[in-house]
Amino acid sequence: MKTRSRCLLLAAALLSPGLPALAERPSPAMLSESCGACHGTRGASAGPATPIIGGQSAGYIAASLNAFRDGRRPSSVMGRLAKGFARDDYVLMGNFLAAQPFVAARQATDPALAARGRNVHEVLCERCHADRGRRFEDREAKAPGPILSGQWLQYLLITFNEFIAKERPFPAGMDEAFRQLKRGDAEALAHYYASRP
Ligand code: HEC
Ligand code: HEC
Repeated sequence: MKTRSRCLLLAAALLSPGLPALAERPSPAMLSESCGACHGTRGASAGPATPIIGGQSAGYIAASLNAFRDGRRPSSVMGRLAKGFARDDYVLMGNFLAAQPFVAARQATDPALAARGRNVHEVLCERCHADRGRRFEDREAKAPGPILSGQWLQYLLITFNEFIAKERPFPAGMDEAFRQLKRGDAEALAHYYASRP
C-alpha cells in the first residue's frame, strides 16, 4: 500500500509539466560542455593525465563519479566537479558517454615493457579485464569496470600508484592480483595496456 502510494506520487510528479527538476536534466550537449574541456566533447580525452571516458560502461562512469564525490577515490579535480551534479545525473552522463566510441590514445610505449606486461596480464588480470583489457567482465563480484586497452599511459601510471599506495580502494578480487605483482610489473602492465593490445 505504502509503495503504491509512493508510485502514484512519483507518476504525478513525472506527469506535471514544467517541473524544474526535470527541466534541469542535463542534455547530451550540456554534458559535453561541462566535461568536454578536459575529456573532449565525446569523452575522447586528449590526455595524458586525463582518462578517456567515452565508450566506458555507464555503470563504471556512475560508480566512479559517486566514489569521487564521497572521497573514496582520490582526485585532483573530479571530487569537486562531481559535487556540482545530482547523483541521478551520473546515470544520464554515463548513458551518454557509454554510447560514444572509445577512441584509443595514440602514444609511444616501450615494446619490451609491453611484452613483459602481457605475460603478467594473462595470468592475473585477463579474467576480469577480458580481451587484453578491451572489455570488462567480472563474473563473481558483478562490479562494473573499465576498458584499459588504449588508455593514456600517464593516467594508468598515476592510478596504478594510487592502488599500490592504498589511496584508491581495490575492488573485490583485484587486491589478490596486485599482491602477486613483482617489482616493475605495474609499469610493464601500464605500457602493455597503453600499447592498445
Ligand atoms: C578540469 C578537467 C576535468 C573536467 C571538466 C572533467 N574531468 Fe573527469 N577527470 C579529470 C581528471 C584529471 C581525472 C583523473 C582523476 C582526477 O585527478 O581528478 C578525471 C577522471 C574521470 C573519470 C574516471 C575515469 C576512469 O577511467 O576511472 C570519470 C568517469 C570522469 N572523469 C567523468 C567526468 C565527467 C562525467 C565530467 C563532466 C561532468 C568530467 N569528468 C569533467 C578531469 C576533468
Ligand atoms: C576480480 C576482477 C578483477 C581483477 C582480477 C583485476 N581487476 Fe582491475 N578492476 C576491476 C574492477 C571492478 C575495477 C573498477 C574499480 C573501481 O570502480 O574503482 C578495476 C579497475 C582497474 C583499473 C583502473 C582503471 C581506470 O580507468 O581508472 C586498473 C588500472 C586495473 N583495474 C588494473 C588491473 C590489473 C593490472 C590487474 C591484474 C594485475 C587487475 N586490474 C585485475 C576488477 C578486476
